[in-house]
Amino acid sequence: MNTLILGSGGREHAFAWRIAQSPLCDKLFVAPGNAGTAQVATNLSIGYNDFEKIAEAVLTHEIELVIVGPEEPLVKGIRDYFQSREDLKDVLMVGPDSKGAMLEGSKDFSKNFMVKYGIPTAKSETFTKDTFESGLQYLENQKLPIVLKADGLAAGKGVIIALTLEEAKIALTEMLVDAKFGDASSKVVIEEFLTGIELSVFVLTDGNSYKILPEAKDYKRIGEGDTGLNTGGMGAVSPVPFASEKFMQVVENEIVIPTIEGLKKEGINYNGFIFIGLMNHEGEPQVIEYNARMGDPETEVVLPRIESDFMSLMIATAKGELSEADITVSKQHAVTTVVVAGGYPGDYKKGDIIVGYDSVKDADIFHAGTKLEGNLIVTNGGRVMALTGMSNTLERAIQKSQKAAHDVLFEGKYYRKDIGLDVLRY
Ligand code: AMP
Ligand code: GLY
Repeated sequence: MNTLILGSGGREHAFAWRIAQSPLCDKLFVAPGNAGTAQVATNLSIGYNDFEKIAEAVLTHEIELVIVGPEEPLVKGIRDYFQSREDLKDVLMVGPDSKGAMLEGSKDFSKNFMVKYGIPTAKSETFTKDTFESGLQYLENQKLPIVLKADGLAAGKGVIIALTLEEAKIALTEMLVDAKFGDASSKVVIEEFLTGIELSVFVLTDGNSYKILPEAKDYKRIGEGDTGLNTGGMGAVSPVPFASEKFMQVVENEIVIPTIEGLKKEGINYNGFIFIGLMNHEGEPQVIEYNARMGDPETEVVLPRIESDFMSLMIATAKGELSEADITVSKQHAVTTVVVAGGYPGDYKKGDIIVGYDSVKDADIFHAGTKLEGNLIVTNGGRVMALTGMSNTLERAIQKSQKAAHDVLFEGKYYRKDIGLDVLRY
């Protein structure tokens, strides 16, 4: 089956790497891809939001399965677009329609959904420009810190954790009155701050049946000890020690099942990944957010642990046959460390030559912001590569990942040296 993966990050390289290994995959394409996906697939220079060009490529290359990596095309309705075209409606797709993607695309929608279906989450209220004054009033009576979330997609920058009332009022004003994130902040969810350890749970569903994939913990801040600015993710580990069987059973009963049932009741036919961001709040899981896709860099530790044929899981998800699929997971520990360009998540350079990856023997290399320039691989984004080590012990997996992050070289390279250490101490 000819397959197309949309996206250009480490997540998509990990998808491509696994799918290229499957006997079920004939030709594999990635749009637009990176220098890593070019090693296992054919890159098509098409943006992942360019539905018409994607459609043309699907028809030209007789593609039967499309796997959507990032959230943006999902929220913009790529599935709806395929469904609306007679010549494309039978193409299998992993990724929900725009209604399903609202779980990620609108924080207000997802909060209402959680409340409606009794899914544990932080207490919240939503405000708009018209109710701005009541929003300010509401803030007066809340405990600090307090969390403000732009309703729509804001490239990972839409969540503000305000430590003082003044900061909170400024953030609310910037979002609602000054439209800091444009339309995305025309509504703002003000939410109670939850304490605890974060965990990401991934569910694959065909709308009826579901499979829980290995859980992961990611490291969002740029600095060691979880300090400094938020990033797309500086590393990840899987499994997560506090995700005991008992804890995961509570997650399944109180969160996963009501989510799948809720989607059905809303008439949303969801075929794809649900990424549930959780806080382990005194042993009780609470949902922080839903995403309509896999996490990045979490995919780079989740996929290496899935032993079953990933392509057949994708086909089963798209066809609605997931109840018949099996999933086996390795007991090994996976740790990924992301090497980033100097300056990231602020301004950074592109086009620096990357060397040293040839000497990486004990880790898997997933490219993120890279591209080919002639025979050279150069940097092309903030997060450049994710280096995944696997082992029977967490300690050894950390060492393998860190050694690889050390060995890959480019000007200005930075990486966190504490990925997984907190978990090791747990
Ligand atoms: P997001 O941009 O939605 O991924 O959120 C960014 C981060 O903000 C999350 O990963 C959490 O670390 C933090 N966060 C979001 N909501 C809350 C909350 N209610 N309490 C504490 N931290 C939160
Ligand atoms: N690593 C977090 C995310 O993919 O949203």
